[in-house]
Amino acid sequence: MMNIIEAASLKKLNTFGMDVSADYLSEVNSPEEIQQVLEFRDKKNIPLFILGGGSNILFSRNIHELVLLNRLKGIEIVDENSNHVWVQASAGENWHQFVQYCINNDWGGIENLSLIPGNVGASPMQNIGAYGVEIKDVFHSLEAVNLSDGKTKEFSAKECSFGYRESVFKQEEKGKWLITKVNYKLTKDNHILKTGYGAITSELEAMNVKKPSIQSISEAVIRIRRSKLPNPEEIGNAGSFFKNPVVDISVMQQIQSQYADVVNYPAGENQVKLAAGWLIEKAGWKGYRKGDAGVHKNQALVLVNYGHSAGNEISDLADQIIEDIENKFGVKLEKEVNIY
Ligand code: EPU
Repeated sequence: MMNIIEAASLKKLNTFGMDVSADYLSEVNSPEEIQQVLEFRDKKNIPLFILGGGSNILFSRNIHELVLLNRLKGIEIVDENSNHVWVQASAGENWHQFVQYCINNDWGGIENLSLIPGNVGASPMQNIGAYGVEIKDVFHSLEAVNLSDGKTKEFSAKECSFGYRESVFKQEEKGKWLITKVNYKLTKDNHILKTGYGAITSELEAMNVKKPSIQSISEAVIRIRRSKLPNPEEIGNAGSFFKNPVVDISVMQQIQSQYADVVNYPAGENQVKLAAGWLIEKAGWKGYRKGDAGVHKNQALVLVNYGHSAGNEISDLADQIIEDIENKFGVKLEKEVNIY
């Protein structure tokens, strides 16, 4: 039977460590409990707020809603042939534990996504990506419950409309679905190793790995992430706070005329993707701190809470950075973290 807590603290349920409360909080462990929460919502007539791992969210207010905490668990093989396995994971599984489970079974495709905080359900929600891989590369389908009528629907990759840190669930379908299960198509043999992302190659060299495997790539990614990104258990943060902006080549050339070392990647015809971390660092924000809100000293794309920062102090800092980058480089950064 579902359990509902009134005036619940959300501090431990968001990686920024924001000390806000929810009017109601319910942890959901089964499909039956989802239906019970929907009934409770209808009876009380309060809006629902879906929370997963809380690793891409900035709370700047108390949540006067019914927070549904997705705790659905389970991993199973749904199909396989000699080269591939279709694995289904419930949305409340911890992402990194799922990655490790796959690597231990020698299933390949998500090793580059090791150590990303959050849960399985967030992986399609924002098409998580790192070190040259995005979830859309291995995604097969997902199941989600419609929050208005409680019915389950399957979404194909196409229906998810994946983009860079984007999906239909952050756009036109926002707030309408509870993702319950995600199906991935992984390799069993002939793994396609993606070592092209600069830092991986050099890390594998530093590790003395001559013949990379999904295990060693995962280890390399873990080492890189640990060296650059703050551990949310120690310093509150939600990973990259901004997206890397895609701009016209002319904008990049303008910056290049002043800074020859501007970091950029091809992004289709006449456009390039800039490294927002580089822009923020060049603008002098890296390591900046005001009160308990700051810009991480090793990765300028990550905003941090050193202890007791309020959500609006972090988002004010983000707005200041956006304004400064626009003035200095003519590039408008977009926030990647969901702010409430
Ligand atoms: N850079 C700087 N200064 C900084 C940070 C970065 O000059 O303070 C430069 C780096 O030297 C490098 C380039 O910017 O040349 C890219 O840096 P990095 O490899 O650290 O990756 P990123 O573009 O800053 C993105 C993702 C990360 C992901 C990494 C690795 C976004 C918004 N972020 O960051 O994702 O882990 O690539 O693939 O796309 C996240 O989404 O939360 C996240 C951490």
